[in-house]
Amino acid sequence: MSTPDAAPAPAAPATAPAGPLVAVVTGASSGLGEAAARRLAREPGARIVLVARREERLSALAASLPVTTTWVAADLTDDDAPARVRDHVRAEHGLPTLLVNNAGAGFRARFGSETNGGWENVRRTMAINFDAVVRLTEALLPDLRAAAPSSIVNVSSTAARVSRPGTGAYSASKAALALWTDALRIEEAVHGVHVGNVLPGFVPTEGFPQTELVNSRLGKRLLGTPEGVAEAIVEAGLGRKPERYTPKVYGIAAALRYAAPALTRRVMGTDAAKAMTTKTVSDD
Ligand SMILES: NC(=O)c1ccc[n+]([C@@H]2O[C@H](COP(=O)([O-])OP(=O)(O)OC[C@H]3O[C@@H](n4cnc5c(N)ncnc54)[C@H](OP(=O)(O)O)[C@@H]3O)[C@@H](O)[C@H]2O)c1
Repeated sequence: MSTPDAAPAPAAPATAPAGPLVAVVTGASSGLGEAAARRLAREPGARIVLVARREERLSALAASLPVTTTWVAADLTDDDAPARVRDHVRAEHGLPTLLVNNAGAGFRARFGSETNGGWENVRRTMAINFDAVVRLTEALLPDLRAAAPSSIVNVSSTAARVSRPGTGAYSASKAALALWTDALRIEEAVHGVHVGNVLPGFVPTEGFPQTELVNSRLGKRLLGTPEGVAEAIVEAGLGRKPERYTPKVYGIAAALRYAAPALTRRVMGTDAAKAMTTKTVSDD
């Protein structure tokens, strides 16, 4: 699926990619992925591939971007999804130079609770937040190596570093992703494929509305923006930064987890911390 080139991109590049940018953005039908696609479309000569399940969202976004944009409507947990994305990119654009693994979901539940709180919840969370990322990366890696210098950006979460009640499955999936990303970065350096990790804090989006914080005077001050995350994705991808917390202040929470673990445990057990287990649209 594709739209023709529209008006040329007006913005000056924030970075200087070695060749034409061919960016694959997963989870581009809403929230952070949509913001990342809009931001990447400002890079001169960019070509964008949007991936998510809701095709009508992807086609509408493609039509609104000022650069050549195509899309693949796919559930990334399906067996054939990685090959479908790879074959589409090859046929429509050639080699990808940037893969943004952003698609993800959070299903809040306490482990052992009667409402979806057991292994099945961990399985479905790992399936989209970790397994799907690994599988798509595996499918595109030979082409990313062939296109080097190229980049992969994995969108994990500050929840990869600090866990809260009800977010065990989500934190486990994002921690797995963050540590896998660290290993892959070292492994792929020799191939010229940079691997960056973006760790957002609370950012109101369709999937993660953060209503509890949006409606609280104090909570509001903790919120980031999709545009801020999009900028962090550009820095980690085109700017080849290894790791970006966004907003940056969330790096302090992550550092405290390791510098003051007893304090972090105490704080996370308080009612104030429980209030930070915000509801998501995927919650049952
Ligand atoms: N917002 C936050 O506070 C926050 C904080 C830390 C990390 N994150 C992470 O940031 C990423 C983006 O989240 P968001 O806030 O932008 O949430 P969102 O608005 O719900 O967007 C999630 C995106 O992932 C796609 N997606 C979900 N399941 C999929 C599947 N099985 N196959 C293909 N695509 C799928 C969705 O598209 P379709 O429904 O059309 O498939 C959507 O485009 C996620 O990985 C999330 O864990 C978010």
